[in-house]
Amino acid sequence: MQGLFGASIGGHSMGQEWGNPVREDHEAIEVQVGALDAIFKVGATPQNRWLALKWIIRSLKPLLEAHLEKEEEILFPALQKLLGVKANAIPFLKEQHQRIRGHMRHLEGLLYNQPIPWEEITNSSQRFVDLLKEHEQKEDHLLLEVLESNLKRTELLKLAESFHQSAQRVA
Ligand SMILES: [Fe+2]
Ligand SMILES: [Fe+2]
Repeated sequence: MQGLFGASIGGHSMGQEWGNPVREDHEAIEVQVGALDAIFKVGATPQNRWLALKWIIRSLKPLLEAHLEKEEEILFPALQKLLGVKANAIPFLKEQHQRIRGHMRHLEGLLYNQPIPWEEITNSSQRFVDLLKEHEQKEDHLLLEVLESNLKRTELLKLAESFHQSAQRVA
């Protein structure tokens, strides 16, 4: 079985049918991360670059935190129940969440240093983008595919609903 979070079953898009909440989150984060990545590739004055970076971080931070919390509260416990307490996928993903949070704080802090440490900001942003991309890819395999191939359709529906409800609470 495939597809609570996006693949299709029997010609119907499960994403459309069930709201596709996790992958929607990932896509929204990807847009912000893409903007963060692009900032260092386009020519811009330092002042404009600083403003763009501040704006991206301000939008990305709550989006990302809400997403990490929803995964920790809803999806990780479901995975743990399925795999047992000894499964190392969960500590691995949790540890990545902590690294993502640490990176976000570090990057935000760098923006307020004087003089602005552009080289460090550039390197730190690149590492942050790489970490986020790696994390979302890992989640596709370690989290979403495992849940999708082991849980019943009704259980998946319940998880998707909790995720969606939680998204509304945060918004
Ligand atoms: Fe995650
Ligand atoms: Fe995620």
